[in-house]
Parts: sequence; C-alpha cells; structure tokens
Amino acid sequence: MRYSKINNILFKKNRIKLAKKLEKKSVAVINSNDEMPKNGDIKFKFCQNSDIFYLTGIEQEKTVLLLYYHNKSKKFKEILFIIKSKKELEIWGGHKLTEDEAREISGIKEIRFLNQFESILKETVISNENIYLNNNEFFKFSTPVASRDIRFIQYMKNLFPLHCYKRLAPLMTKLRLQKEPEEIELIKKSCEITISAFHRVLKFVKPDIKEYEVEAEITHEFISSGANGHAYDPIIGSGKNNCILHYISNDKECKTGDLLLMDFGAEYAGYAADATRTIPVNGKFTDRQKEVYQSVLRVMKKAIKMIKPGTTINKINKKVNKLIEKELITIGLTTSEEIENLGSEDVVMKYFMHGTSHFIGLNVHDTGTKDTKLKPGMVLSCEPGIYIEDENFGIRLENDILVTKNGQINLLDKLPIEIEDIEKLMSM
Ligand code: GLY
Ligand code: MN
Repeated sequence: MRYSKINNILFKKNRIKLAKKLEKKSVAVINSNDEMPKNGDIKFKFCQNSDIFYLTGIEQEKTVLLLYYHNKSKKFKEILFIIKSKKELEIWGGHKLTEDEAREISGIKEIRFLNQFESILKETVISNENIYLNNNEFFKFSTPVASRDIRFIQYMKNLFPLHCYKRLAPLMTKLRLQKEPEEIELIKKSCEITISAFHRVLKFVKPDIKEYEVEAEITHEFISSGANGHAYDPIIGSGKNNCILHYISNDKECKTGDLLLMDFGAEYAGYAADATRTIPVNGKFTDRQKEVYQSVLRVMKKAIKMIKPGTTINKINKKVNKLIEKELITIGLTTSEEIENLGSEDVVMKYFMHGTSHFIGLNVHDTGTKDTKLKPGMVLSCEPGIYIEDENFGIRLENDILVTKNGQINLLDKLPIEIEDIEKLMSM
C-alpha cells in the first residue's frame, strides 16, 4: 500500500459499532465492489467498496466480510473471506494477501478462503433469523447495471427465501458520518497533500498553458505524496468553463484575463479532500473579478460558521441562498424588484446552481442526507459560488469543515484564499 499502515484498532472499533446496531439472531454480509471492465480485456483500476474498507481496511478485490450471531456465546463473531492466491494470478497481478496479512490489516482472527464461503454462510444463516445486506442507497446514485450488492441480494433470496431481510445501508450511513479521530487524521493528510498541490499550481499557472497541464501538476503532487490519486475527476476550467459545474475535459487553453477554477482533492488511504480555488491566469484579478470574488468569500466566511452541531445541510442552504441573494444585488446582477417579481429561488439559482455543502469521508460525496443533523466528527464541504456566464467567468471557493463540539474547524485553513495572498504567491 502507498500510505502508512492504519492501526487495525480503527477497523475493530468500526465493526464493534456495527455489531451493536444489529438485532440479535442476525447475519450481515458486506461485499467488495465489482472489478469493472473497460474495453477488450482491460479493467478499470479496482476501487474497493467504502463500507468493507471501513470495516476491514482490506483493499483487495472479492473480499467478503461475514458477521454472525453466535447462539452459544450470544455474541457477534466475524469471518473474513479472501481470494486464495494462485501462481497464474500472481504472475499477472502480483501478490495477493496471505491469511496472516489479511489478519494483520483487519484485526479479524478468522480468515478463510472464498471456496469455503457458501458452506459457512449456510451454517450461520440457518441458525439465525435476520439477514442484513448492503446496497448503495446514496440518494443521487443510479446505475443501469446490477451491482455486486444487487446480485448478492438476489442470490441470498434464492437460497434463503424465508428469512427476514434488513438494510445495512442506514446503519453504515450513520456510522460513517461521525468520524473516529484516526479517520480525521487521514482526511487531514488528504487536505495537506491537496494544499501542496495548490502551491505547486500557483507557481506553474501562466497565460497560454492548457488546462490539462495544470491537472498534470496536481496529479504529480498527489501521486508523489503517496495519495492513491484524485478523489474524483479534477475540474480545471478556464474562462467560460468556470461555469460548468462538473467540467472534466480540461482541454482548453488558459487565456490572459481569464480566471481558472480548480476543484480538486487528493485521496489518501481511501479518504477524500475536496477543495476549490479560482485564480487569475495572468496572476492579477481584474476589478470586476475581485468584486465578485469578495462576494463569494464573504458568503463563505459566514457559511463556515453555520456548520456546527444541530443544524442540517438544508438549513445551511437556505441561509446561504439568502446571503447570495444580497451579494447578487451588491454586485449588480439583480435588484430587489427583480427578486420580488421572479422570486428569490429563481434569481439565486441562475447564478448559484448547487448546494453549499455535502458530507466528505471515504467518498467525496459521502453518506448522509440534507436533513442529517450535524454532530461532532462529521466533515462537510463549504462551497458557495457565483457563476456569470455572460461575463465569461464564475467563482467557486471550497473548504472542508470538521464539525466539533463547540463549532467547527476548517481543515483547509492553510489553503490560500485571500486575493492578496494568491496574487503574491503567483508573482513569486
Ligand atoms: N468536488 C466536486 C463536487 O463536490 O461536486
Ligand atoms: Mn465539493
């Protein structure tokens, strides 16, 4: 692995927390993601399922975790199933985990090979009543192909049609939302690598470079720092492309006078950072760009303070939209009369088309909904923006915020954001 070894106490704690949420007389099965085909005989780089990683730390494909209620001891027990390595597998794909290595990473004592999975599954399921299975219930997720989870649900229902089935997703969502201190440290490391990449970019950007050259600088910094790479496809858009929310082609030339919007974040040990900064290609903001930038920055500073225990993303969105509305009047994009006539929502939506926050963790858009009450240990983005296509630019600024008992900590507070700091660093 590229990252420093994670103490398996984290994964043990996570499994204990899950077992406490399961009803007695239950079995829970957590699968790995599929290995996804590309073209010909090539596959995409394997991406582990976040839930099994959270519970075991194992990144290897086809791994399955079984938790089951043991009737004699009246306790939950755990078995981890892994691939049994073969010479041909190792010739092409390299080393596969041994039982000892899987035990060391996960802290699970009982490691078995996959050829024993079905018989052990039957034994444990038949002596219990409930079966908890996983599924991706992220509210924006959709896929035209049946995932491993969906196929596994069908397989289980064929084998055990009369058991009581339960959803793991709501339990995993709750657990993953509130991070353990070890997880916060890993997110901080992702943030640290992301900050280094931004400093590198500030030295690199000048007129006439291509957006993808900026992407390459960021990628270099991420990979050489031990990150897996980008936590999501980086958005590196200049000029009008500032206004395309998920612009990822990154293939245009950066022109003098334009702004460059960069939304990028490292993934370290599975954990994401998510940062956005908007900088002038030639190192100097125009007066108009400064005016709009300061509006977004004012909103951001106030929005960060709203991220604290007890509130929700929906409540934050409502308040931030009000702040944006006021700023739109200040920078001459609308008037009180227009807002009166068209309604605030439509006017704000024209220049600020997305929400202010999402949860961050093992996924850049992590588990949790807009109505989840914020609690200490949760990490959220704060990313207001104003996009003015008619003026060929837009500005988004994004930090990652940790909710604490008394308020919040900005995990990207070392990522330059003030206009003077950015102009100074770009001139050096
Ligand atoms: N980083 C992209 C997004 O939050 O949508
Ligand atoms: Mn984001």
